[in-house]
Amino acid sequence: MTDFASRLITWQKIHGRHDLPWQNTTDPYAIWVSEIMLQQTQVTAVIGYYAKFMARFPTISALANATQDEVLQHWSGLGYYSRARNLHHAAQTIVDEHDGVFPQDFDTIQTLSGIGRSTAAAIASFAFHQVQTILDGNVKRVLTRHFAISGWPSTPKVEKSLWLLAEKLLPQSDMVAYTQGLMDLGATICTRSKPKCTLCPLNDSCLAREQNLTSVLPTSKPKKSIPEKNTTMLILRQGNEVMLVKRPPTGIWGGLWSFPEYEEIAETTNDYAAVVLDQFGISAIANNALPTVSHAFTHFKLHIKPQPLALTKQAPQPREAGFIWLSIEDAIGAAIPTPIRNILLSLLKHPS
Ligand code: ADE
Ligand code: SF4
Repeated sequence: MTDFASRLITWQKIHGRHDLPWQNTTDPYAIWVSEIMLQQTQVTAVIGYYAKFMARFPTISALANATQDEVLQHWSGLGYYSRARNLHHAAQTIVDEHDGVFPQDFDTIQTLSGIGRSTAAAIASFAFHQVQTILDGNVKRVLTRHFAISGWPSTPKVEKSLWLLAEKLLPQSDMVAYTQGLMDLGATICTRSKPKCTLCPLNDSCLAREQNLTSVLPTSKPKKSIPEKNTTMLILRQGNEVMLVKRPPTGIWGGLWSFPEYEEIAETTNDYAAVVLDQFGISAIANNALPTVSHAFTHFKLHIKPQPLALTKQAPQPREAGFIWLSIEDAIGAAIPTPIRNILLSLLKHPS
């Protein structure tokens, strides 16, 4: 075994994390759900969601048989909702094509929606004790520092060399402690800023430490300015109820409930009442807009102007499917994105 692996394994057994809700199991489903939730999301944010998700969808077939709306409702607030749609879709694939049993073959695991090579390796090592390496952001940080590798780690060339390096470092046994050790070291010791090198089991061989490069490695992503978009959301209120619309299945917040949204209004006309009458046959008057709510996505920043409208006549039944009226309280509990939940929470404080 490499020295790197044996020191990491010994360290993990003593100083690593052993009581996270998805540890101490070899159930591939329980591990899979945790790995998907933990993509781009911190452990502390995931823990509460994980318990509720597993209580409601305890098995692959329970998840496969649920509606997408219910799956998204249990994901509501976690963000990156394609993760939930892919998880749901993959559960159905496992039922339809693998007799409901999570596949063990490493290449087959990677054919499931939402499971890339690193996630497949985490599941294969935790659930099946296979010798496969993970390479997530934490591991990229540990490796680029320990071996003083420069260049943004997600450029294809650097990433390829990191995969090869990570494979060479693999032990032939103790894969659970090794994989968890990589994650734990990146999360608790080799942190993005101010790594705790004095406590690190790899410090006597670490090149970044030796060459004083821990603050410049890993090389950051070349900066591009992030585009900004403006949108107006129409908040149609009737007593304590608001109208929500189901978003298209793909794109941002796909399949989630939201307010009707009209990008063009922001630029052209302020006659919201006319638009609402035209689009929904609803008579209403516009009140003052609420403070703009901004939300940062990975690729752009969205500025939402919430535009409340009070109905002047009882609303007709929605003419199209995909619109519902819900009390503000029920809307807050529905499958909605976080900025919409924040707007709804602010509505509780502004009587209509
Ligand atoms: N991040 C991704 N997978 C993880 C795990 N199993 N434990 C802690 N953090 C993680
Ligand atoms: Fe990271 Fe410091 Fe350990 Fe090197 S010595 S791997 S920089 S924590």
